[in-house]
Amino acid sequence: MPGVTAAAAEEEIPRAGGATTVFRFTTDAFSLPAANLSMRRRTAFFAGNAFFTQPWVQAPSSTTARDGLGPLFNTNTCQSCHLKDGRGRPPEGAAPMISMLVRVSVPAEVAPVAPEHGVAPEPTYGDQIQPRGLVGVQGEAAPVIDWTPVRGKMADGTSFELLRPTLRLEGLGYGPLHPDALLSARVAPALVGMGLLEATPEAAILAHEDPDDADGDGISGRANRVWRIADSESTAHDAAGGQSALGRFGWKAGQPTVRQQVAAAFAGDLGITSRLFPEQPCTAAQRGCQRASSSSRGEPELSDEVLDLVTLYAQVLGVPGRRTPQAAAARSGEALFRKVRCNACHVETYTTAHDAATPELAGQVIHPYTDLLLHDMGDGLADGRPEFAADGREWRTAPLWGIGLVEIVSRHTRFLHDGRARSLEEAILWHGGEGQAARDAYTRLSQVERDQLLFFLKSL
Ligand code: HEC
Ligand code: HEC
Repeated sequence: MPGVTAAAAEEEIPRAGGATTVFRFTTDAFSLPAANLSMRRRTAFFAGNAFFTQPWVQAPSSTTARDGLGPLFNTNTCQSCHLKDGRGRPPEGAAPMISMLVRVSVPAEVAPVAPEHGVAPEPTYGDQIQPRGLVGVQGEAAPVIDWTPVRGKMADGTSFELLRPTLRLEGLGYGPLHPDALLSARVAPALVGMGLLEATPEAAILAHEDPDDADGDGISGRANRVWRIADSESTAHDAAGGQSALGRFGWKAGQPTVRQQVAAAFAGDLGITSRLFPEQPCTAAQRGCQRASSSSRGEPELSDEVLDLVTLYAQVLGVPGRRTPQAAAARSGEALFRKVRCNACHVETYTTAHDAATPELAGQVIHPYTDLLLHDMGDGLADGRPEFAADGREWRTAPLWGIGLVEIVSRHTRFLHDGRARSLEEAILWHGGEGQAARDAYTRLSQVERDQLLFFLKSL
């Protein structure tokens, strides 16, 4: 680039996460503190990191700072699923399911849906399968995925094969599931940029809603409306508590804030109660679980202090910058991404609120490639399991920032909510419903153009 100074060239590097953006493209790419985090806040970040990565143990123990695991749980640390803050994947062959989980419920016609719960829990197993239990407490089940090949062709005749998952539960510990039980398998998402998505103004997100497809482009998009738990003792987080709120986190946008998402993970995935989730996930049928948790009634197992630290940690993980955004293939791929209208849902740019509670996250121009809205993605991707306002065919547009680093950080390339896609291309080919037109347009591109579009995705 003759005549362009190094500083000017650097100016051109799109900073996906604004001033939080980090540029270390190693296996730690998702685990770095936001670039603009002060030294004092870095100390809190690393304290939060310790509670995220280190294993929790059964109570009581000598290390009371990290006890409270179980009685029912998926695993003993956040990091088992979000390894290196990266994403989970479906098990290989007959291996146990490690870095993903299975949600369960029954249809609203079978049991009432409490507004603060958003689903009708399955009567015996609750709303999530916890495969493991402490000694004397039976684990719930071992989820297994069977795969069926599905073949298709691009317009130029190139053939491809996708794998369609079928989920089943083996070794049910508490008898049969309700005959109408609805199951939904989900991989752990990568955790970069959570705080920036949280700081994105609600009005900016709702501006992309088009529930009745008034503009007739085949893409509607609507917000999930979830329940924000009252958090009355906390000064910083309680103003909007105890009422309906915009959902932002999880594959169906079922959680409104990072803090509530983190507390829900402690309760649901690790069996650790907090002020937000004071109850263990035991149903009336699970007496061993009931007995084992009765001793800890009263005091939440997780202190507010630790909840705050892990919340801050998840909020301020830096977003990785792009690699080779100026390469010709990346630029052509970006143009194709827009031409086939991927960006109708994978919205490129937002500006976070100037008065965001976390100063490092305020007023940032970010490129998350999501509208944070729900879209009908067709029969192929449907899990048939509603969650708050999301129906059984809807999913939140997945953010694409950092997606090109998944292979480096997580050492796999499994995409979509249940990890069924084995590559970015397979992820595109699964798009149906409101995403069908973009998917079909992709299959009509030439091989060179498809490669350019994929090159662009890998540069994110
Ligand atoms: C058993 C695997 C598992 C464990 C353990 C786990 N998570 Fe998750 N995590 C998930 C899955 C799956 C989702 C998506 C949930 C959904 O769609 O409902 C998720 C979502 C999240 C999100 C929101 C991500 C997004 O893109 O919206 C955050 C933040 C998060 N987890 C933090 C944590 C923390 C903190 C812990 C430890 C207390 C933890 N997780 C433990 C599997 C796990
Ligand atoms: C109608 C809205 C919509 C359009 C248009 C759309 N997507 Fe998506 N995309 C989604 C949703 C929703 C998901 C999550 C689906 C799931 O996990 O089941 C997703 C997931 C993805 C994923 C996987 C992300 C992950 O974290 O696993 C990739 C990659 C992707 N889209 C790329 C594209 C590309 C490229 C295009 C254009 C060819 C496109 N999308 C068009 C809504 C859309």
